[in-house]
Amino acid sequence: MRGPGADSHRSQRTPRNTTVRGNDGTRGVAVRRVKLLLVSGSLRVGSTNSAVLQTAAQLAPEGVEAMTYNGLGSLPHFNPDDDAEGQPVHAAVAAMRSAVARADALLICTPEYAGALPGALKNMLEWTIGDAGTHDKPVAWINAAGPAAPSGAADAHTSLRKVLGYAGADIVEAACCRIPITRQVVGPGGRILDPQAREAIRGSLGALTAHVRRREAE
Ligand SMILES: Cc1cc2nc3c(=O)[nH]c(=O)nc-3n(C[C@H](O)[C@H](O)[C@H](O)COP(=O)(O)O)c2cc1C
Repeated sequence: MRGPGADSHRSQRTPRNTTVRGNDGTRGVAVRRVKLLLVSGSLRVGSTNSAVLQTAAQLAPEGVEAMTYNGLGSLPHFNPDDDAEGQPVHAAVAAMRSAVARADALLICTPEYAGALPGALKNMLEWTIGDAGTHDKPVAWINAAGPAAPSGAADAHTSLRKVLGYAGADIVEAACCRIPITRQVVGPGGRILDPQAREAIRGSLGALTAHVRRREAE
């Protein structure tokens, strides 16, 4: 059984650090890998949102390490009494906080439930307030709601934006996008094969990574 932490998907071709080559082929400076934490708001087996993130992990470009957070369903309900100063927190909370802290940025993909973001995802974000884990953390989302969704899951993303705003996250608008996904385009391995959708996922990853690198350079 998998633990409640994060699974790392470092591409075979991605070493710990990436060496940038100059146009003349000479070796340049080593660039630190950007670590992205992929968070699905859906616990459903066969989730289209999780499929988008699985595809993102597969498409992570050179120099990017994509870690899939798989502990959403193991988190206890947030209770401030269980997050007291100086006291240990539940192991699943500690693992989540550690995964968020290790990540340079979060990429979220979530369905809409009952007109808002899912309770499980809100619960995770509530646990990030106590340790300021999402404060100033670059965060983007891909809205994968299918074309049949009445509002295109707009309410889920409006409420996600509100929660992230409260947390003080650095919302990376350029990396947020809408890629409508139907269950039919999810392949047998849980990955999306549609070339247009894959290109759009690549674009989101590229924008999020570029944002992290820009911040580092400042
Ligand atoms: C209990 C429940 C409530 C839902 N509420 C909404 C909703 O308010 N708005 C919406 O667009 N879709 C709603 N949906 C549809 C889901 O958002 C949609 O099926 C989504 O694709 C599920 O994502 P997944 O494939 O990643 O699990 C709801 C689904 C369920 C099961």
